Amino acid sequence: MSHSATLVVFASLGKTIAQITAELAPVPGLLPVVDLLCGIIQLCENVTHNRHAARQLRDRCHSLVLALRDNEEKRSNPNLIQARNAVHDRLLDIQIKMTAWSQLGTFKSLIKQEEIARDIQACHGDISDTLNAFQLTSHFEIHDWMAEFKENQKADHATLLESMSSIRESQAIIQENTALAADLVKQMMAMFQSAMNENKQNSERVHDGLSANLFNFQTHFQELLPDFYLRSGEVKKIGKLPVRGTATMDIYEGLYLGRQKVAIKAIRSMHFDETVKRRFTREAKIWGEVWKRDHGKHIVPFYGFCDLDGPFPCMVSPWQENGDALKYVKLNDRRIDYLKFVTHICQGLEVLHNMGLVHGDLRAINILVDIQGNPLLSDFGLSKIMQDMADAPLTQSFTRADSCRYFAPESFVGDGVISTATDIYALGMTILEIMTHQQPYRNIKHHFEAGNRASRGIHPDQPKEVDVVQRGLNDDLWRLLVSSWSLDPTKRPSIRHMISTLQLK
Ligand SMILES: *[C@@H]1O[C@H](CO)[C@@H](O)[C@H](O)[C@H]1NC(C)=O
Repeated sequence: MSHSATLVVFASLGKTIAQITAELAPVPGLLPVVDLLCGIIQLCENVTHNRHAARQLRDRCHSLVLALRDNEEKRSNPNLIQARNAVHDRLLDIQIKMTAWSQLGTFKSLIKQEEIARDIQACHGDISDTLNAFQLTSHFEIHDWMAEFKENQKADHATLLESMSSIRESQAIIQENTALAADLVKQMMAMFQSAMNENKQNSERVHDGLSANLFNFQTHFQELLPDFYLRSGEVKKIGKLPVRGTATMDIYEGLYLGRQKVAIKAIRSMHFDETVKRRFTREAKIWGEVWKRDHGKHIVPFYGFCDLDGPFPCMVSPWQENGDALKYVKLNDRRIDYLKFVTHICQGLEVLHNMGLVHGDLRAINILVDIQGNPLLSDFGLSKIMQDMADAPLTQSFTRADSCRYFAPESFVGDGVISTATDIYALGMTILEIMTHQQPYRNIKHHFEAGNRASRGIHPDQPKEVDVVQRGLNDDLWRLLVSSWSLDPTKRPSIRHMISTLQLK
């Protein structure tokens, strides 16, 4: 073969289109199938993924035509016309399919990769059927096409992984589809995430490429990873020691998809067994729903859970550089629009209440502040998980000693119910805390005594300092807070009422 011939793109079985046409077109009656074959050869070059399998199919189409030609030359076959028609129909069908595959674009050919591989396999089956039906013998059928197809599929899979880990892939997809239906994005991200999982021994380069692309998709399409159980290196701890801790939790710094700083909360009161895993998986569905509505605007999202800390389950959420709301208002007092700040908190609670969800542990230190200074509800749902797994009333199972300053009195009796009404009570205390920079019942030293007063319907004293009033805690707001502390849960305002009252001010 001359050097220039190797540069010709459109070739099959070592022959260029020109050679094929010259060789086959003069055979009487063969022109229509030769045309179809040449079309297939050209289309094949435009099949993005599944390239190896597509080329094998192209070669077999070629060999089918050659077998037909041999048959015609022998003129021994009584079914000459039928054979010609059958080959024609076969090639036409494959050309139509090949046209569709070649026009899919980067994104569709990616998510349909497996489907296309199955279609190609079916086409191979059809070619075999045609060969058998007309007893066409092909010189090129020495190999078992199935074995070769499996090899090609493997090669396509390797190529696919290679391109999925190339940063160009996500850029091309994003460029091609600025907006995509959420379920398609999920489907694609699921492919990437399971590629990470299937190939745990992937090279660092492939792993990092997949991470980078997933992160691009998450940022661009605003979708979280489809599988919340992060077990494929999606998240890694930074440093061995926790940066903070409480009796029941340790918080580590981590890196998510190699690109974003996250908080990894290890819950020391639980063990990561099958039950806990199921519980988190169930909970993750709720997090997904919350994300769908809020996209992290009012509520700190959960990116997922993992078991990076010995036997303890960990929860992963984005790191908030500004820390908790109490720390933040103390540091930035003069710069804060307090009414806007607390309204934002209320709006977060409204998202949950509108979904029929209860936060369960609202207080200033469970509110984090994002980089723009917006307060985000955090640790939502955690208290419920703790309660379920510990099988004890919430107020006993996990909360801190000072919780009676925030929890509604009714949650300390009986089974310790939490409800949207207990959230409203805690919200009132949280607003007071943010306005005063101090815990509720600030003049009462002992937590127990504060709780005792609360249970008798004695609410905190109204703060009169100029600073506090200037922040917005005037008589009007005070009346709203007092109503949120009503002993009768049904008398407390709804979150909507709280927001509209705040917005009137
Ligand atoms: C293959 O793709 C190129 C570029 O998009 C296009 O110009 C060409 O017509 C395609 N070939 C066929 C046979 O469709």
